[in-house]
Amino acid sequence: MGFTTEEGITELAMARWATAHDPRLARILPSLVRHLHEFAKEVELTHEEWMAGIGFLTAAGQISDAKRQEFILASDVLGLSMLVVMINGRLPKGATPPTVLGPFHIDSSPQLANNADAASGVEGEKVYVSGAVRALNGNPVPRARIDFWQADSDGTYEAQIPNCDVRLRAIFDCDAQGRYGFWTVMPRGYSIPMDGPVGRLIEQTDISYYRPAHIHFIVSAPGYESLITHVFREGAEYLENDVVFGAREGLVARFERHDPGVTPTGETSSKPFHTVRYDFVLAPAVEKPIA
Ligand code: BEZ
Ligand code: FE
Repeated sequence: MGFTTEEGITELAMARWATAHDPRLARILPSLVRHLHEFAKEVELTHEEWMAGIGFLTAAGQISDAKRQEFILASDVLGLSMLVVMINGRLPKGATPPTVLGPFHIDSSPQLANNADAASGVEGEKVYVSGAVRALNGNPVPRARIDFWQADSDGTYEAQIPNCDVRLRAIFDCDAQGRYGFWTVMPRGYSIPMDGPVGRLIEQTDISYYRPAHIHFIVSAPGYESLITHVFREGAEYLENDVVFGAREGLVARFERHDPGVTPTGETSSKPFHTVRYDFVLAPAVEKPIA
């Protein structure tokens, strides 16, 4: 110990933060200090740059509220959110991979009957989404629960519209064969919120700030790991450069266009419509040690 020196400060700060009472915190904080110091040394951080970083964090705090979370957005575009998803979602081969939750999920969506229209009154080309929930051995997972949400054809989520009625989100219970199905509208690619400090930073780069067209799902069933994921539209723009790194192999499905006529749910459509089929494969639940 003793007086502070440039050579000694990292070790000193790490030792200080290693006194955290919680063992996990005592592992995390010294490591965070080491990486922060290494970063400052590597780029020879100036006072102005340090202050710009503080300004970014301050602006992120100021624009965040119960619905807007700029720090999560920063984590998303830096690839940290997806890294955490992948570290904590190392599933057995064959299981559907997880991806980011995103900021627009709303709890307690209304429960709709299978084959219902979750997009009534919403503009857009109609899409019938269907498939099954299976275990790794291919057996159906009966009565699995599907929680879905998506943006409209302008790329806007219900959560972004003040005082909006329920739209483009619902919960479905699969049938005894694990099958689900519902009607919605064609998802489109959309821009992440660009009116805050994350947007101002991105504008100083060549980064595309779009997400490829997708539908969000949380799939759950007793005895299985819950799955937070998306289904992406095959051939969608930005699939290869998703701004939040959320697009993964195995999550892409073909949206097939059909001429007007009889739909899979037996109605006659006077307009063209689309169908997409996606089967979710759940991994068995992992016993978590009691803390
Ligand atoms: C989304 O997919 O809803 C989303 C994810 C991360 C950032 C912004 C939006
Ligand atoms: Fe989304």
